[in-house]
Amino acid sequence: MGPASADPGERTYDTVARTLHWLMFALIAAQFAIAWTMPEIEPDTPQEGLVDWHLSVGAAILSVAVLRLMWRVIRPTPLMAAMKPWERRLARATHDTLYLLLIVLPLLGWAAAGFFGYTVRLFGVLTLPALAAKGTHWAEVAGDIHAVLTNVLLAVVGLHVAGALYHYFILRDRVLQRMLPGV
Ligand code: HEM
Ligand code: HEM
Repeated sequence: MGPASADPGERTYDTVARTLHWLMFALIAAQFAIAWTMPEIEPDTPQEGLVDWHLSVGAAILSVAVLRLMWRVIRPTPLMAAMKPWERRLARATHDTLYLLLIVLPLLGWAAAGFFGYTVRLFGVLTLPALAAKGTHWAEVAGDIHAVLTNVLLAVVGLHVAGALYHYFILRDRVLQRMLPGV
């Protein structure tokens, strides 16, 4: 809780929530950079280089998403009390969609990894079981949906960032500061 909070006594995101939020941001940025640079994945593409990085970073994203959701259940942070009803509805819908995508998108990628016969490892730490056997038809479809949903994620993140900037530059309230380190 920052001393300069507009409404003293109002809860803001704690250090754990802020750390997980920006860790997730860094992982997603890295994941798009990897995915846009890695070779097109075909049935005979070997699991090496950036393709292997994509699987590991993806496994990290899924892990952090689960941690974040658990933290949100233990220590939920209410939206700022001063927000208007339409702002609350839009913010809640955006946050819920983001959480949903952060779980569903990696799960579909994990299934697609099975289709290609890849082994998903969280770097050297943990090996995840295959969700589907190599060549399974539904897992190939999962890969197609995975590719489409990455664009949906980009669009929803864009809306989310526009909301943060709207609060900072137009409304000039402290919504953005709630998520910044040390403010
Ligand atoms: C939020 C996390 C993730 C993002 C943003 C992401 C992003 C992407 C993008 C942009 C592509 C290229 C799609 C295209 O061809 O147009 C891709 C493909 C792929 N990703 Fe991910 N990915 C994520 C998580 C994962 C995870 C966790 C796995 C596996 C453990 C994974 C496995 C794959 C595979 C196998 C493909 C090839 C799919 C196909 O061509 O059918 N991804 N991903
Ligand atoms: C990959 C990109 C991002 C993802 C997936 C993401 C996801 C989320 C989620 C799920 C929440 C809701 C937290 C909760 O209440 O449990 C949240 C809150 C927030 N995010 Fe992001 N975020 C991203 C990038 C950004 C960026 C770039 C900014 C700033 C420009 C930002 C600013 C905020 C702010 C200010 C809040 C708190 C909103 C409030 O007080 O209600 N986020 N984010």
